[in-house]
Parts: sequence; C-alpha cells; structure tokens
Amino acid sequence: MLWKDQYELGVPSIDEQHKELFRRVESFLQALRSAGSWEEKAPRLNETLEFMKGYVVEHFRDEEEYQLSINYPGYEHHKQLHNGMVDYVLEVSEQYERSGNNEDLMQQFGGRLLAWLINHVAAEDQRIADYARKKG
Ligand SMILES: [Fe+2]
Ligand SMILES: [Fe+2]
Repeated sequence: MLWKDQYELGVPSIDEQHKELFRRVESFLQALRSAGSWEEKAPRLNETLEFMKGYVVEHFRDEEEYQLSINYPGYEHHKQLHNGMVDYVLEVSEQYERSGNNEDLMQQFGGRLLAWLINHVAAEDQRIADYARKKG
C-alpha cells in the first residue's frame, strides 16, 4: 500500500479522497506492470484514466472549498498547482487517444502521476493541515 497514515490531514472527507486516489493510482500501476499484451491491459487502464479525470477534479474542488473555509493563505498558489495537474491529465489523455492507446505514453504517465500524488499530498496538502492546526 502506497498510502501512509502520515499523509492524513485530519479532515475525514479529504483523507478518504486521498486514500481513494492512492488506491486507484496503485491499481493503475499494477495494471501497467502486469503480464499480458497491451491489448489486454488497455481497457482497464482506460477505465482508470477516465475515473481519474473526473475524481481528481472533484477532489481538487472539495479541497479548495475546505481551504477557503479556513481562510488558508496559500489558496491561490495551491489552486494553480491543482489546475496544472488537471491540464496535464487532460493533455496526456488526449495524446493517448490520438496515438491510438500508445503504451509508452501510459507508462510514462503512470510514473509521473505517482510522483506528483506523493509529492503533492505529502508536502503541499500537509501545509493546509499545518495551517489549520496552528490556527486551532
Ligand atoms: Fe489533495
Ligand atoms: Fe491539493
């Protein structure tokens, strides 16, 4: 399991979304690395990719709403990071479709998605929790 309890923000709804994101990314990576031809693997990966496109947007919106509710001063910067990620996911997804489900594109995407998720949740999202704690 890639999720670590230290990633928790202490906001149950957000923590649940983070866990779900980690679960999905993990199963995405497992599918990428599993045996079998790309033709066999592609449908499951496409499904996860479609889910991520929707879920990431939903999660970012909820997390941004939470930031506003506590007057988090890093809100604008954080929102830019989220928007950058949404743009990246949509861009890869379009490229992937145009390429006719190119495997290399998805392999590269899997690695970057995991790195982004860990860095973002462990560092940027934690700053929100730090602020909330300080504020009391
Ligand atoms: Fe988050
Ligand atoms: Fe975030």
